[in-house]
Amino acid sequence: MPKHVKRKISDITVPDGRRSIDQRKVQGLAESIALIGLINPISIDKNNVLIAGGHRLEAHKHLGRTEIKCVVLDCDELRCRLVEIDENLLRNDLDPIAIGEQAILRDEILEAMGLRAKSGGTGANQHKRRGEKSAPLQTTAGIAHEIGISERSLQICKQLARSLTASAKAAVRKIDAPKQDALKLARKNHKEQEVIAKKILNGKAATIADAICAVAQHKVKANLKSIARELATKKTKNVNRIVCGDAIEIMRQIPDGSVDLIITSPPYNVRDSSGNVRWGGTRATSKMRVGYDLYSDDMPRDEYVAWQRECLSEMMRLIPDTGVIFYNHKWRVLNLLMEDQSPIVEGFPVRQVIIWHRTGGINFNNSYFLPNYEVIYLIAKPKFKLIPGANGAGSVWRLHHDTDNAHPCPFPIELPHRIIASTAAKVVLDCFAGSGTTAVAAKMLGRDYIGIESSAQYVAMAEERLRKTNRKPA
Ligand SMILES: C[S@@+](CC[C@H](N)C(=O)[O-])C[C@H]1O[C@@H](n2cnc3c(N)ncnc32)[C@H](O)[C@@H]1O
Repeated sequence: MPKHVKRKISDITVPDGRRSIDQRKVQGLAESIALIGLINPISIDKNNVLIAGGHRLEAHKHLGRTEIKCVVLDCDELRCRLVEIDENLLRNDLDPIAIGEQAILRDEILEAMGLRAKSGGTGANQHKRRGEKSAPLQTTAGIAHEIGISERSLQICKQLARSLTASAKAAVRKIDAPKQDALKLARKNHKEQEVIAKKILNGKAATIADAICAVAQHKVKANLKSIARELATKKTKNVNRIVCGDAIEIMRQIPDGSVDLIITSPPYNVRDSSGNVRWGGTRATSKMRVGYDLYSDDMPRDEYVAWQRECLSEMMRLIPDTGVIFYNHKWRVLNLLMEDQSPIVEGFPVRQVIIWHRTGGINFNNSYFLPNYEVIYLIAKPKFKLIPGANGAGSVWRLHHDTDNAHPCPFPIELPHRIIASTAAKVVLDCFAGSGTTAVAAKMLGRDYIGIESSAQYVAMAEERLRKTNRKPA
């Protein structure tokens, strides 16, 4: 049994490198000690060196006491460190990062002591060396249980402690960020963490999500300058990016004639229409009910047509005399009358309409057949030509829709793949990039790409898909 003794406070040595003292905590402890006395004695070794109880010791000093109740532990240095850590974990109100730091230290010490958790039975939560006489030590999971958090939660605390940089930790602490948000920051590389943390530490963002978004917007501006520079000089080595921003605003910053091929599918402006597709409709699929991340898809028709015509004008400026635009849209039935997209494409050099025969579709109305196709307008400059043999694909394409994509309306990969493979385009643009399917197809075919997408969430989705895609060698 450890010995309980009283020691002069002036005789106790506090070793260097201990956790810093929280004066508010000392104040609270002093009040409680003055009222009910010291319930848990501090722990010291036989040389009067403090092992655990720094805050209690400070509280005694604060109260002007000269003596303190101690437990004298007879243990080697590593075991003493473990006792101190367990005290910190069990008695201190630590934040998740500090819990993680203490737990990591604990694991390291156990490892250094050659202790491993025993498996099976009640001993599963304990560490003990063969032949060891002193009380067995708990595993970190056992400690997690005692401090009332799950093992998974403890793993997250450790990941935060391990992966966050010093300023990212300061930022998380400054705004008392929820653990899951802190985890998003921890998954970024160190350079990104520093930039995001700076936004919070400078008071420019109040949450981690705000800071990530602000940094993404900042990146857009940095990216644009280099994209424009590279496109102007036809050196497209680093063009391949998904830019987070508005389609027209970004396209305006790209030089004339610098993109060979555009494949895009704008938002269809279908919310609240009556007929075949509705965001928010009770019978729509769940992905449709959710709609886009940021875009509400419910403009007045005139405004929508004007916006899309402006987009097409910008696209026309970006392609050279040999360039082409594949503009995907949908014809629908509105108030029992067919509404095609002539007002949008009127005056643009539409050379052909390709029918994308979808394998599914939704129809809430029994006054017309299920619309199971979409259209792709092939809008070409005079010198555009397909590569030899590509025209054999015909103009009705039966393509399954992509069910394995969290975006509400992605292209099936075969669609941009077929188009790109049918042309000699070097640089491919999708100005409504969504989950990045066009860019993925371009990369698969060894072409350069630029994607523009207004939602940072979809940009992240596209970047993730691109990371997993191998570029075909030139
Ligand atoms: C039909 S989806 C494109 C899906 C894409 N083809 C794919 O395979 O994932 C249209 C996309 O345009 C985006 N968007 C809406 N307004 C935008 C704007 N002003 N600028 C850029 N993107 C916008 C939406 O967030 C949406 O992801």
